[in-house]
Amino acid sequence: MTNGNAAVLYRQSGAVGVIMINNPPVNTLAKQVRLSIAELISLTQSDQAIKAIVISGVGRNFCGGADIREFNTPDRQVRPMTRHLMNIVEDCEKPIVAAIHGPTLGGGLELALGCHYRIVDAGAQLGLPEVHRGVVPGAGGTQRLPRLVGFRKGLEMVTSGTPVDAATALEIGLVDKVVADVDLVEAAIAYATKLIEQRMPVRRTSDIDIDVDTVEGEVTVAGLRAALEKSARGMQAPFRCLESVANTLTMSFEDGWAREAEISEVAVASDESRSLVHAFFAERQTSKIPDIPADTTRRGIEKVAILGAGTMGGGIAMAFANAGMHVTVIESSQENLGRGLSRIEENYDATRKRGRLSDAEMADRISCIHGAVEMSAVAEADLVIEAVFEEMDVKKTVFAELDRLAKSGAILATNTSTLDVDEIAAVTKRPEDVLGLHFFSPANVMTLLEIVRAEKTSPDVIATVLDLCKKIGKTGVVVGVCDGFVGNRMLAPYFRQADFLVEEGALPQDVDRVIEEFGFRMGPFRVYDLAGLDISWAIEKRRAKTRPTEERFSPLLERICALGRHGQKTGAGWYAYEGGRKAIPDPIIETMLADRSAEMGINRRDISDEEILQRCVYSLINEGSRILEEDLAIRSSDVDVIWLHGYGFPRWRGGPMFYADTVGLSEVVATLDRFHAEWGDKWAPTALLRELAEAGSTFKEWDKTRG
Ligand SMILES: NC(=O)c1ccc[n+]([C@@H]2O[C@H](COP(=O)([O-])OP(=O)(O)OC[C@H]3O[C@@H](n4cnc5c(N)ncnc54)[C@H](O)[C@@H]3O)[C@@H](O)[C@H]2O)c1
Repeated sequence: MTNGNAAVLYRQSGAVGVIMINNPPVNTLAKQVRLSIAELISLTQSDQAIKAIVISGVGRNFCGGADIREFNTPDRQVRPMTRHLMNIVEDCEKPIVAAIHGPTLGGGLELALGCHYRIVDAGAQLGLPEVHRGVVPGAGGTQRLPRLVGFRKGLEMVTSGTPVDAATALEIGLVDKVVADVDLVEAAIAYATKLIEQRMPVRRTSDIDIDVDTVEGEVTVAGLRAALEKSARGMQAPFRCLESVANTLTMSFEDGWAREAEISEVAVASDESRSLVHAFFAERQTSKIPDIPADTTRRGIEKVAILGAGTMGGGIAMAFANAGMHVTVIESSQENLGRGLSRIEENYDATRKRGRLSDAEMADRISCIHGAVEMSAVAEADLVIEAVFEEMDVKKTVFAELDRLAKSGAILATNTSTLDVDEIAAVTKRPEDVLGLHFFSPANVMTLLEIVRAEKTSPDVIATVLDLCKKIGKTGVVVGVCDGFVGNRMLAPYFRQADFLVEEGALPQDVDRVIEEFGFRMGPFRVYDLAGLDISWAIEKRRAKTRPTEERFSPLLERICALGRHGQKTGAGWYAYEGGRKAIPDPIIETMLADRSAEMGINRRDISDEEILQRCVYSLINEGSRILEEDLAIRSSDVDVIWLHGYGFPRWRGGPMFYADTVGLSEVVATLDRFHAEWGDKWAPTALLRELAEAGSTFKEWDKTRG
């Protein structure tokens, strides 16, 4: 027999036919691959010399599953479709061994499940992560996996999307053998030869009986559904996955398989899936900066210095240490340094006690963090990150000092959250080396990093920092200089609406419920209480000095703070806490709100959930579009990434700008026009929004014009 098509190679080894998927870069099941595998299986079936078959992949993995480039093209429908291919493989009358290596996810694992035996390289990862894209495994995965690994484990893997490593795969019966440091394909041929010698039969996963009875299985399903109703509130894909796996309890394989296809098609067409796919591509896009070519020379970053070992400095130091990079933390006195380093140690220790860090890992990370009290310790650093007090004069003094002490070519970053980075850069003789690196708190946990490109920041500084983000596990988004940058600037009108809503008649728990039902992890009032009302109030006081008077802020914050209610940390804020973390609506706050409304001559009214949602979320959208107009973010999808990673916007809604596209921009503009007529200029839709709405366009389309 000759080699198959180039996308699939074929050779014979003894009595074993070896089919190699050869479709770089990740061996997807594109049309030609499906056709060739099906044809080769048919040919080997009738070849008397062949007694068993091995399927494997050339290059870095076994098989990458369905081909994304074929989605929404006629090629996807060409038979055998992916789900038919798995049945052709399984129906083969000669034993087929899958030889698996690399990431074997989604359709790749479904192909392996269609094979009769599985041998796997120790470094492989196996899973069905479709739920993370808002879809359901659609090529038999929901029917075969629970038959092979047991109902409970299969249900958990499909609904969580979490992959397992090779050792776990062996333990749960997903694979038959794990090999390390050998030629995988040769090992699979030897395994297949043994099957032939022992006259082992084909072993079809679809023939296996589910290992729980219907009642027992349904109890498991009910338990998981209840848990998902809390953890995956508002989403549909996890419930669709649940339904499809649950069908194995009551349906034959054929019926469950047919139903899986129907469920999968509905999921593929859902807004949820579109949003999750948008989020995935949006994240990849952030490192592409139109005027900075990909081949821009980067500066080397080996040594990092951090000024200030407070909340942010400590967290930033941990972020670097977690990536194995050495950092020197510089404080203003031994006492402050000692306090800062102890806090870092306490943080690591808390993680260790939770079992998420071993003793050795903790020691390793701590050994990456060095302390100093002389500013001259910055002399060797390739990157200095300033995280001292948020006061312009202090920052200016520090940067003038840095200019004197840092070596030539060092990148000088400020972690300011509100101050003008251009003004800070201007005190140095090297503003091209200065930028803002706005980490989010806790900096060792939060993945977002706003990279603030100041007027004179050099392109290679931006390119270097974008690379660095990948190294320390951050999602970097380039933004321009303005008060609050992108994220916090959008947050301000959102919180202002929350304040107005409670003055007009809503209660904090109403607003929080609506926002949490929308999918945010926490509504604005619970966020206030977690962050500390004293901190919000201090920021408001400072901002009030520079903001126009019409941007009034509610005095409610001040009044609540005056009662010593600073939020969770003092046991009360917008809510009562009674010693725990559960937010309990408090009559004191209701009275305070009623008094405030009376004082303003407002007749408190019932405010619908729809109005609450639109006023909070559309204020984000309008401010986001203003930011785009002002060229402070490159793409609307960058704004989305900021909100997904920094503010808990529900990923399955894609981010505020993509959500606007989903609602329809003309509908958003019509609502904003209505709000504008009722509440004044703050609500006037931006010219960009109106222009896109009138053209029947979307932010996604607009992004394409931005390079
Ligand atoms: N806390 C947040 O959530 C957050 C989020 C993003 C950005 N930021 C910004 O990060 C910066 C630091 O904030 P923080 O919350 O960590 O403050 P913090 O008060 O916890 O820490 C500041 C630290 O800087 C030290 N310090 C002051 N002057 C110094 C100097 N000249 N040399 C060395 N150390 C000096 C202080 O001793 C203190 O330990 C601010 O610019 C703030 O706006 C804060």
